[in-house]
Amino acid sequence: MNISEIEQIAKLAIEKIKTSQLCELENLKTQYLGKNGKITQILKSLSQYSVEEKKLIGASANKVKSTIEKEVENRKDFLNEAILEEKLQKEKADPSQVFAFPFQKGSFHPIMQTIQDISTSFKTLGFSVAEGPEIEDDWHNFEALNIPESHPARDTQDTFYLEGFKNLLRTHTSPGQIHVMKKQTPPVKVIVPGRVYRNEASDASHSSTFHQVEGLSVGENITFKSLKETLAEFVRNFFNLELDLRFRPSYFQFTEPSSEVDIQCFFCKGKGCRICKNSGWIETMGCGMVHPNVFKAVNYDCEKYTGFAFGMGVERLTMLKYGIDDIRLFYENDLRFLKQFSV
Ligand code: DAH
Repeated sequence: MNISEIEQIAKLAIEKIKTSQLCELENLKTQYLGKNGKITQILKSLSQYSVEEKKLIGASANKVKSTIEKEVENRKDFLNEAILEEKLQKEKADPSQVFAFPFQKGSFHPIMQTIQDISTSFKTLGFSVAEGPEIEDDWHNFEALNIPESHPARDTQDTFYLEGFKNLLRTHTSPGQIHVMKKQTPPVKVIVPGRVYRNEASDASHSSTFHQVEGLSVGENITFKSLKETLAEFVRNFFNLELDLRFRPSYFQFTEPSSEVDIQCFFCKGKGCRICKNSGWIETMGCGMVHPNVFKAVNYDCEKYTGFAFGMGVERLTMLKYGIDDIRLFYENDLRFLKQFSV
């Protein structure tokens, strides 16, 4: 076999080595370049040749030697890369397998779901949704809403005052109206959902922390009729039923005239049942036309603009909608209760 034939055969053998035979490469190298390797033997036998032949054969044997060395190294690099690639493919993260262990999907709290439902209903009526701070000062929570200093709502019996009596935890979402009007000029159409605080003992229908949604619409031609139409449309959206509304005269400092809104009981459709205590009606919110003193507090022109406002209790609406009879269930985080609302 001449040198170039040896070279050809060696090259072919090197190329045939696969990733699983990486150590074979070293054996191959030994076969050709080791102590008794084919090329080594040729180099060893040079003494039998003439000077001229020695030069020629020696040069080409050395050339083949370095070619084989290079080919072996190249093949090694190539195979190592292929092995790495194979490994990477195998270890590639499959996102669908990330939560392969038993994983429970979370869900919105029923109070949050009601706030979302209320918001959706009002958004379709052109209202935007704003938020106000839970820590308020006396001015936003009372003064600007025409609630006089002597009013019992300001009493520490009802209000959680913070250190120094300068700030307090809002007792209702109505100060949300004030924040919006101070930032924005009419027309205004907004609802403000949020958590409120009252310094009172809790029982089946009272909690010191609960949620309200405040509503406000101010413009040039806002009337009590607009208020009635808006609330009727909201009730239709929210309960997905045709229900009558009843407006009873009432009193709030920040509205004049003021009204309490009852909706026809959606359990008995007004016939009388346990939920509506046989009256056929359910009290759901307070409302009225914005008092001129409130407009004055936020520098709105009360000759030019009128507005209506309303406020509803989220827990109360949720309890009515699902026939829940104890408000404390919302705050106990009992999964047996909460799971009934997971969607
Ligand atoms: N802020 C009142 C409350 O906490 C609810 C309310 C009544 C809000 C009448 C209003 C309203 O905007 O017009 O009981």
